[in-house]
Amino acid sequence: MAKSKIVYYCQSCGAESAKWMGQCPACKEWNTFVEEALPIKRAANSVPGQAHRVKVTKIKEIEAAVEERITTKIAELDRVLGGGVVPGSMILVGGDPGIGKSTLLLQVCRNLAEDNRKILYISGEESLQQIKIRAERIGKFGDSLSLLCETNLDIIDQIVRKDLPEIVVVDSIQTMYNENIASAPGSVSQVRESTGSLMMMAKGLGIAIFVIGHVTKEGVVAGPRVLEHMVDTVLYFEGDRHAAYRILRGVKNRFGSTNEIGVFEMYSGGLREVDNPSEFMLGGRPEGASGSVVACSIEGSRPILIEVQALVCHSNFGMPRRTAAGTDFNRVNLLMAVLEKRAGLKMGNCDAYVNIAGGIKMNEPAIDLGIVLALVSSYKNRAIDEHTICFGEVGLSGEVRAVHMAEQRVLEAKKLGFTSCVLPEASRAALHEINGIRLTGVRSIKDAIDIIV
Ligand code: TYD
Ligand code: MG
Repeated sequence: MAKSKIVYYCQSCGAESAKWMGQCPACKEWNTFVEEALPIKRAANSVPGQAHRVKVTKIKEIEAAVEERITTKIAELDRVLGGGVVPGSMILVGGDPGIGKSTLLLQVCRNLAEDNRKILYISGEESLQQIKIRAERIGKFGDSLSLLCETNLDIIDQIVRKDLPEIVVVDSIQTMYNENIASAPGSVSQVRESTGSLMMMAKGLGIAIFVIGHVTKEGVVAGPRVLEHMVDTVLYFEGDRHAAYRILRGVKNRFGSTNEIGVFEMYSGGLREVDNPSEFMLGGRPEGASGSVVACSIEGSRPILIEVQALVCHSNFGMPRRTAAGTDFNRVNLLMAVLEKRAGLKMGNCDAYVNIAGGIKMNEPAIDLGIVLALVSSYKNRAIDEHTICFGEVGLSGEVRAVHMAEQRVLEAKKLGFTSCVLPEASRAALHEINGIRLTGVRSIKDAIDIIV
């Protein structure tokens, strides 16, 4: 009899090992190795002479079919998906617990059911009654939506093959299990195997499958990274659970561009789209306060204005404290070093706290100039004119470098009533005059500081 083999999987990154280890050599997490039985291997397909039955095709001979897209009637979601749901694709929606994943997908179900598309919502987390209670808050549902409470994938597979819905929603991949695998639901091999069989269903039957995935406290989908490699599209739902708005971010997309974001607001009747995120992000901005400046970042194809806040104060201890919320901590440290060296500001013994207001995460280099000016404004305790916005990448020599899509950024600022814009000189030279907003090109952070702080 063949000996059943035991392997250890890292529950954080999916690394495999023959023996237990305290620390994962791949992702350096501690205590993440768990013993799991190896799934039974299918016999290798090694019959000689198999290859002559398979044909390779020239790219010219392939006819590109016009891709059909199913619209979810939620414009923000459609944009993140690249224009709608592609039949036969698998979409992973990740996010913290309670962020609104189930709510969003139930709203998608409602919209699609209005078009009489056949949908199956499979929940392994909530009972039918609980789903119904949530559904009542969201609105009226059509007849073509069916619910199923099940976690056994073999049964789900049979039901899907019999019913043939157009769209399937699987509420949390971590609750699904496969009987052939000995380990518990949510473990690496279960999640991997479940994703694999759902993928076969999607591709084989042409069904679009939405899969919800929980996120660990480090911010990655619980279970293996391989999950993200297998599916076609990965969306992350992020945002502060205490604030009302939510951001849906495309992390991977085989059928569209990534980097797109969709902005939603949670209210008593579910999620509502936010059409103008800039206005939303700038709400409640202080007037005439030092250490605050508006910067512009491009998210996907859209410019979004955000308020960068900084607080710089004298440190009472030898070790200055620095924090960055909503942006890269190392980038902030680097920019402070550039300020010290190239603009001669003595920030070495100052505490500094940088925050992107509204809790949104922004890492585009174009907000560098905003961070720099907010820091200087707070350091000098001088407020920046509140009708001014700025953007530009800052280099190590203190130069302000050109960024892409300068015109869209300026137009977005103008739309929101800003009258002055500080931008890289190279970007300004490429722009023509725009009525109603004064453009000031700067070559270095020194120029920028002289002009507006
Ligand atoms: P939920 O979709 O259950 O989150 P997830 O599936 O990501 O765990 O969202 C639950 C939260 O949303 C809960 O805290 C209540 C809130 N909520 C509203 O504010 N309004 C609503 O209409 C609904 C349905 C939920
Ligand atoms: Mg849920």
